Amino acid sequence: MQIDIDEISKLFGATAALHPVSLALPSGALVALLGPSGSGKTTLLRILGGLEFPDTGRVLFDGQDATGLTVQERRAGFVFQSYALFRHMTVFENIAYGLRARGRQRPAEAEITRRVTRLLELIQLPDIGKRYPTQLSGGQRQRVALARALAIEPRMLLLDEPFGALDAKVRKELRQGLRDIHDTTGLTTVFVTHDQDEAMELADLVVVMSMGRIEQIGRPQDIRARPASDFVRSFISA
Ligand SMILES: Nc1ncnc2c1ncn2[C@@H]1O[C@H](COP(=O)(O)OP(=O)(O)OP(=O)(O)O)[C@@H](O)[C@H]1O
Ligand SMILES: [Mg+2]
Repeated sequence: MQIDIDEISKLFGATAALHPVSLALPSGALVALLGPSGSGKTTLLRILGGLEFPDTGRVLFDGQDATGLTVQERRAGFVFQSYALFRHMTVFENIAYGLRARGRQRPAEAEITRRVTRLLELIQLPDIGKRYPTQLSGGQRQRVALARALAIEPRMLLLDEPFGALDAKVRKELRQGLRDIHDTTGLTTVFVTHDQDEAMELADLVVVMSMGRIEQIGRPQDIRARPASDFVRSFISA
């Protein structure tokens, strides 16, 4: 799904979290929102997902105005830094949760089992369905969080520092995992990071933010081509 952000702005009291920003995200792109703390990355991601509403501007999904759509109507798959798994549910139940909560559109139990099994294979943890989140490593939990986000068959994936709490080795594995899942599903994927290497390694398109503004948009090699001093300055000034 193509996502267009058209002159979106957001104030929190006197703080301009986002000045009017505009951005076109091509269908199927893997996009990094990169910038220092407080630059507006999470605010922009939450506006895309319908967790927050902008003061001005529009969000378009495949050219259709989606600004007023609810979270459910947008069908975004979310993954956050903190493990948002339900502790009292098994991995299987966690992944199935979004499907079971669908009311009348709830799939039959056999279909739920089929889908959860397939998602466990996709995250390369086929045997952990019966475990509880406390019995998993941090990296495994984030894989399960990813599977749960995918279970609802989202139209896009939105990830906020999904690997932020993990050590370097696991982080690297999960980057590759996200890349593989992205390539398999073809979902337009937006992930927030303040790690420059992560953005460069993983993304097709890097959006550099600073103080509620978009400073640069480009492919990793184009962003890298900028003088390092400029890049560093944009961080320091924020
Ligand atoms: N709910 C809120 N109420 C008040 N101010 C907020 C709220 N959410 C964000 N802000 C402010 O808006 C600005 C942008 O915040 P945002 O969370 O989008 O930044 P970020 O780039 O995600 O930062 P970080 O890397 O620390 O997560 C900050 O100045 C922040 O304090
Ligand atoms: Mg944030």
